[in-house]
Amino acid sequence: MGFKDKLVIFDTTLRDGEQSPGASMTKDEKLRIAKLLEKMNVDVIEAGFAVSSQGDFDAVKLIADNVRDSRICSLSRAMIGDIERAGEALRGASAGRIHTFIATSPIHMEYKLQMQPDEVLAQAVGAVKIARDLIDDVEFSLEDASRTNFDFMCRITEAVIDAGASTINFPDTVGYSAPGEYGDIMERLLNTVPNADKAIFSVHCHNDLGLAVANSLSAVQRGARQVECTINGLGERAGNASLEELVMAIRTRQDLYPVKTDVNPSYIVPISRLVSNITGFPVQPNKAIVGANAFAHESGIHQDGVLKMRETYEIMKAEDVGWSNNKLSLGKLSGRAAFAARLKDLDISFDAKDDFERAFKRFKDIADKKKEIFDEDLQALVSDVQMGTEDNALTLVGLEVLSKSGQSPHAKIIIRYQDKDHRAESSGDGAVDAIFNAIEKLINSETELQLYSVNAVTQGTDSQGGVTVRLEKNGRIINGQGSDTDILFASAKAYLHALTLMRNPGRLHPQLGGI
Ligand code: KIV
Ligand code: ZN
Repeated sequence: MGFKDKLVIFDTTLRDGEQSPGASMTKDEKLRIAKLLEKMNVDVIEAGFAVSSQGDFDAVKLIADNVRDSRICSLSRAMIGDIERAGEALRGASAGRIHTFIATSPIHMEYKLQMQPDEVLAQAVGAVKIARDLIDDVEFSLEDASRTNFDFMCRITEAVIDAGASTINFPDTVGYSAPGEYGDIMERLLNTVPNADKAIFSVHCHNDLGLAVANSLSAVQRGARQVECTINGLGERAGNASLEELVMAIRTRQDLYPVKTDVNPSYIVPISRLVSNITGFPVQPNKAIVGANAFAHESGIHQDGVLKMRETYEIMKAEDVGWSNNKLSLGKLSGRAAFAARLKDLDISFDAKDDFERAFKRFKDIADKKKEIFDEDLQALVSDVQMGTEDNALTLVGLEVLSKSGQSPHAKIIIRYQDKDHRAESSGDGAVDAIFNAIEKLINSETELQLYSVNAVTQGTDSQGGVTVRLEKNGRIINGQGSDTDILFASAKAYLHALTLMRNPGRLHPQLGGI
């Protein structure tokens, strides 16, 4: 096999992924994900949209200050204030990138921006120049590129390269394109833009028609050398192209793709689990690569074939993507030192000693109920401890649920808020309903429950249940998570977590025009 170009893997789980309704993450959670992306050798991590909120700024800064081996990027509209804020957040990065964008399709320019094409071009060039004064690595995106006039795309691309952008991204923002068409556009751009050799051409595909990965791969075959993607395909609406599918398609079909990536695939399953646990977005069992059934063979004919010769029905090895990395980490007898060492391996640290002690106590509680503690259990318990440190956290102190056949279940709850305990009780249609009713007697949140889901954190009947609760109020959507070996406790924690986030405006993603 001849020389292969490098394909730059640009992960936007923490930015576009976080734009999934309800998927907001704390800065500590984002750092845990960023550290694992760094370990798996992702080239560029888009850590957020610094100007969009103080929370996003803090997250970009925290990641820029703490991740050394991946390039850290912040999104910014093509506006001076956005760009300066991105530059400020990235100051501590060992390698940083400002990613600035403006919409270029006729429909976006006319109705959203209310600008003429020449004005858009001038603003794009101005933005790239300002960004280049702050940092040496600038990416420019033509938002809604797949619906943009081809000649205008060429003009603006040539101009922003001249202004100093070294990566030009052509997003299929609304997931409208089809693989052949999108690949054609990429090849024509590379052949038409006179200074195309001075920049890397990138793709960013949304999955509205289920074509995000296919469109990205088609563009790679036709010359794109950066793909923007997310873990588990998380992202705005139907999501973005999934990192794990792209990386494994390229690895598995080296005969088709003229590129290689530096990603270490053995972290794929662990990071998929981490993102799913943190965001509360479960992975569907039949999801490629990371779904529970991705390597499970049910039919006798398949099982027989695999036993005789694995390649009869398997094109990848489960262990290559980390399915066997599910490490038994610790047990009941493990002490503080072993606990601290395992957290260190997972790149988890606590700022306050108290938080470590709370985490250790929680670990001991879980170890009493569950013989084997896996990395996923540790990640879930760390999330639990971090939730308790949110501003104005509502925490569960006690819960009693009586469920008898022929009677409505009844829940009694004690909640701590700002060091004071509050009690309430209520009945409900089911045990979970009774718990939520009891909480509402105290909080009266006027939120609407949009989703309640329970997933096992690990395997086995002694697994912790990971519960996600999605609440909506005045158009704002928030996901709360809770985990416990008792799913009623996990449910109460998840509901309180969602209410805490709903009451903390810093965690809400303001809607900015332009994305
Ligand atoms: O989908 C999109 O167009 C984007 C850009 C801001 C890159 O997310
Ligand atoms: Zn996007």
